[in-house]
Amino acid sequence: MLKARIAVLVSGGGTNLQALIDAESSGVIHSGEIVLVISNNQNAYALTRAEKAGIRAQYISKKELKSQEAFENALIDALDQNKIDLIVLAGFMSILSERFTSRYDHRIINIHPSLIPSFCGQGYYGLKVHEAALKKGVKVTGATVHFVNEIPDGGEIIAQKAVEVLDGDTPAILQRRVMEQAEWIILPQAVEMISYEIISR
Ligand code: GAR
Repeated sequence: MLKARIAVLVSGGGTNLQALIDAESSGVIHSGEIVLVISNNQNAYALTRAEKAGIRAQYISKKELKSQEAFENALIDALDQNKIDLIVLAGFMSILSERFTSRYDHRIINIHPSLIPSFCGQGYYGLKVHEAALKKGVKVTGATVHFVNEIPDGGEIIAQKAVEVLDGDTPAILQRRVMEQAEWIILPQAVEMISYEIISR
């Protein structure tokens, strides 16, 4: 059966990438196939996870390429060469320009570790999101999968899942619970759903 060709863009540990790899192995994702992983961080453990799973892994350096435009051109080259249908941002810590996002309209999705529109937008990434949630004292947080457009964390929402905040939570403890109870579940589900839509067109 024809499958959507998926690229996963990462910057760090890659636990969400691992959840996607595992979901493909278990059949939760069956309408898409991860064929490429790109990191903007040479030391990202996500690159090792990709290699271990036999997925092509590529490092693209923004520093060496010097400008956002050159960086995005390198991304576009890699995505086009691999005939990518769906781009998944899974802990990718670099904001993409409108020139890039409009090229892949409704073909880029992102996982964000809060219930958008809370604790999102520029400056809210990784642990900072959970620090802000704890500082505000919210009792419920969660994760959101959304389409990516030119507004950071501003695209159409695809899936959300709520997670309880507990007394004594630290940002790291809360981050882990949000990953386990929300991110690693809704990201693979959303990837399957969008992949299915793409191959059914
Ligand atoms: C995840 O919690 C992801 O939601 C978040 O970074 C973490 C990456 O972890 N993404 C953002 O904050 C994007 N604004 P991972 O590398 O283990 O998947």
